[in-house]
Amino acid sequence: MSVGSGGKNPVAGGPARHIPVLLEEVLAVLRPRAGLFCDGTFGAGGYSRAILATPGARVIAIDRDPDAIAAGRAIAARFEGRLDLAEGRFGDLESIARMHGISALDGVALDVGVSSMQFDEAARGFSFQHDAPLDMRMAKTGRTAADILAQEDEETIADILFHYGEERNSRRIARAIVADRPTAPYVSTRQFATMIERVAPARPNARIHPATRSFQALRIAVNDELGELVSGLIGAEALLAPGGALAVVTFHSLEDRIVKQFFARRSGRGQAQSRLLPGEPARPAPTFDCPAPQPIAPGASEAAANPRARSAKLRHGVRTEAAARGADESIRALALLPPRNRGRG
Ligand SMILES: C[S@@+](CC[C@H](N)C(=O)[O-])C[C@H]1O[C@@H](n2cnc3c(N)ncnc32)[C@H](O)[C@@H]1O
Repeated sequence: MSVGSGGKNPVAGGPARHIPVLLEEVLAVLRPRAGLFCDGTFGAGGYSRAILATPGARVIAIDRDPDAIAAGRAIAARFEGRLDLAEGRFGDLESIARMHGISALDGVALDVGVSSMQFDEAARGFSFQHDAPLDMRMAKTGRTAADILAQEDEETIADILFHYGEERNSRRIARAIVADRPTAPYVSTRQFATMIERVAPARPNARIHPATRSFQALRIAVNDELGELVSGLIGAEALLAPGGALAVVTFHSLEDRIVKQFFARRSGRGQAQSRLLPGEPARPAPTFDCPAPQPIAPGASEAAANPRARSAKLRHGVRTEAAARGADESIRALALLPPRNRGRG
């Protein structure tokens, strides 16, 4: 999930545990039964545990965060061989499944973004509520957010802030980063947030801190979150057995747009219903049925109880018998930065 401001810690003396979002709705889509399910975003295991409550259900759970996998071992022990944990990226779903001897799945759930544990652990650098290294790596490997700000050119940084954060002041912020970095590179969360407060102050009555959008943008870039989402959808299409469901929970419009367009194309809804022109290749058969209404949002009581659920949206589809279509260029393009834009501040 993409999370907003700090939030109350419900566990005295420890990091906040993650409250699963849209859990009932995801279960209604997955219909747990004796079969094999994939929880592609294990987190605190909220979805996995709920699926495993059905006798005979088995789960392969993936998370790229070694801390999530380590904490999951106690849960796996409780379920005596029915929960298999895999540290890795759900974008590699097909190869992870192969390594675990899995050729077909009865359901796949993706609940994308960061967990409450990641967001609330200051040292991970996802939040400017605390001062910490500007890190933001879910997997604790690869380039940090500070590395991106130190290494990329001004135009690329502006593109990241504009497209992944919808930050209208992207150019102004990128200019400040590049001007300051020879003497004072941005390496800490508070230092970066303070600079944004200075060069792009909040408008009167703004509902969010002026650094919120830039933090979201950097997090998406550090973790290639949109590329992962597209690869995860393609992997789920390849592995789901006919009748198996794919449930995807997203937290902002960039993610939701990808899932919406994927299902529109794969269910045939996104294609013109006109007759084929002579010579036009036959349209591929739909690989998913997507029952209306969609998207599904949290009810009032969930939104009131868990502020982090408020922006959540669930989209889902049921796999048909048609052959998987794989990664065509137009699907991959959903995760790419659009051409450079004008009109940015
Ligand atoms: C929103 S939390 C999931 C919470 C979970 N549904 C629960 O109820 O506890 C997202 C989790 O997915 C993981 N994650 C995000 N992107 C990932 C990816 N591409 N591959 C694997 N894990 C990912 C994060 O590390 C985080 O632990």
